[in-house]
Amino acid sequence: MDFKNYIRDIKDFPKKGIIYKDISPLLANIDVMKAAADALFEGLQHQKIDKVVGIESRGFFMATLLAERLNAGFVPIRKPGKLPYKVYTETYDLEYGTNQLEIHQDAILPGENVLLHDDVLATGGTAEAAIKLIRKLGGNLIESNFLIELEFLNGREKIKTSAVQSLMKF
Ligand code: PRP
Ligand code: MG
Repeated sequence: MDFKNYIRDIKDFPKKGIIYKDISPLLANIDVMKAAADALFEGLQHQKIDKVVGIESRGFFMATLLAERLNAGFVPIRKPGKLPYKVYTETYDLEYGTNQLEIHQDAILPGENVLLHDDVLATGGTAEAAIKLIRKLGGNLIESNFLIELEFLNGREKIKTSAVQSLMKF
């Protein structure tokens, strides 16, 4: 299956000069969504994963499908102020300004095997911050995986201390 047929380019969104990779067509087709989850799961079948971490918000969709396939728990990393219990916070750089991500302090136990999932790896800032949060909790990051990798932005360089997998490269 060519998953790229289910990704829609939106020009100048959210800002001029950005081509937004819209995964809505992939999500709207259950066969394609399942096939994408199966493909990301394939390399992990023999790994023991305790927790799948998904990054708000577009990382949530596929992360729960992966958690189900891996028989693992799901852990959300969220934008600031959304998680109700005690959190750790990580600040990361955007093109202009900074952003923050948070995780519950008890979401991962020390030594647990963790899979990180997000929809897109672009500059890598988001994934890098998520990885810092996972490691702060003592999680053992097995792999970071993505539906889409924008190779020209070199995000992989920031997170390649552990395994990185992406389904589609642009
Ligand atoms: C987008 C995308 C990734 C991140 C990738 O999320 O879903 O999470 O950017 O960019 P980076 O590699 O340059 O850090 P966004 O922050 O737009 O939020 P959303 O998922 O809630 O739409
Ligand atoms: Mg996102």
